[in-house]
Amino acid sequence: MNPLALDLNEQLTKSQPQIADMLSDLGKLMYYPKGILSQSAEAKSTEYNATIGMATYRDRKMYADSLYNVFSELEPDEVFPYAPPQGIEDLRDLWTDKMLRDNPELSKDDFSRPIVTNALTHGLSLVGDLFVDTNDTILLPSHNWGNYKLVFGTRHSAQIDTYPIFDNEGHYTTQALVETLDQSNQEKIFLVLNYPNNPTGYTPSKDEVNEIVQAIKRVADRGTHVIAVVDDAYFGLFYEDVYPYSLFSALTQLDSENVLPIRLDGATKELFAWGLRVGFITFGIKDPQAQEVIEAKVKGLIRSNISSGPMPSQSIVKHVLENRDQLDQELEHNFETLKARYEVTKELVYDEKFSDYWQPYDFNSGYFMALKVKGVKPEALRTHLIDNYSIGIIALNDTDIRIAFSCIEKDDIPHVFESIAKAISELQ
Ligand SMILES: Cc1ncc(COP(=O)(O)O)c(C=O)c1O
Repeated sequence: MNPLALDLNEQLTKSQPQIADMLSDLGKLMYYPKGILSQSAEAKSTEYNATIGMATYRDRKMYADSLYNVFSELEPDEVFPYAPPQGIEDLRDLWTDKMLRDNPELSKDDFSRPIVTNALTHGLSLVGDLFVDTNDTILLPSHNWGNYKLVFGTRHSAQIDTYPIFDNEGHYTTQALVETLDQSNQEKIFLVLNYPNNPTGYTPSKDEVNEIVQAIKRVADRGTHVIAVVDDAYFGLFYEDVYPYSLFSALTQLDSENVLPIRLDGATKELFAWGLRVGFITFGIKDPQAQEVIEAKVKGLIRSNISSGPMPSQSIVKHVLENRDQLDQELEHNFETLKARYEVTKELVYDEKFSDYWQPYDFNSGYFMALKVKGVKPEALRTHLIDNYSIGIIALNDTDIRIAFSCIEKDDIPHVFESIAKAISELQ
């Protein structure tokens, strides 16, 4: 059991032993992780807060005006009624169109109609409900989003197995994943592929995607069932010549009966609408009857959990997708703003003058980049930066830190990295 859960249980046993006894197994196992959210909370009043998974200007969030403006335009019937458990039907069609536009290799018959989720985390949880049993193994890169552990490890009592995606020089490699898949003799493999990656901001090239997809094909051809969850939270934020489509598209083209690609995506980061809680779950299933069955099961899971998602948020996303021109311009503007920040960051962090302080991990997309710091503990560095420089960063583990350039104005980026270097030199 996680030490934080043990601690909560002990506290409850002391304060109200009867309630501690009433908890279910899951209730006993559950805890609130001390990860990114608590580190973000500690950095809340810093001047340069590079901890959060949003995109911000100095004084406000980086949203799209056309989304904001819809708030005052909704009719009562677009706000107050229940949405169906599977989401507003027109919204599902609009998202299908978007998927097809963004992924030219996909055709409409390749996948089920997207079902609306209460954003991506809910989608992950639904996938866990449908496909993960106690002690199943979840294959994740060692650099992964911490919430996977809570969703699959704690909620579903799965084992988490990790493989490195960077070599000792910080360069991306598919070798460990390919070897793991090639050596596997399991009946079932469940893996989560998340690119642009949180926390490192890396997206594979076309060749690297091909290596991953072919390794999945080989293991599937040997009879293993592969559930490949594609977490596309940061889809589209590609700043270099990377594989510009969803891995879901590449996996769906495999056309292997033993491979089930599942796509999770949504408005959260793609439309700069973190709080709307609108996401989608889509299955790479071609058979119409199997599509219907899986949809019924997902609807049942939604019905038995949140019953249905929020109507106003879904109506807002539907509105802007119906009038895309204005939205696209605004999203393009936000993209260019983030790209400019990325370019300044990229130019800066590889400078020889910082080589005694850190080694960057390859990055080319998304909100974040990560550094392996030299001669300091990330946690000590994190608190030192808050206390002395008013800078918030995330301490990822014993060696690495994450910096969200999505939350730092372009002109402030040199100051932030110079300060991190100075703080490291003070602690070394
Ligand atoms: C990789 C990844 N997946 C999923 C999510 C969750 O997205 P949502 O807010 O839509 O639940 C995040 C949010 O930070 C993320 O970084």
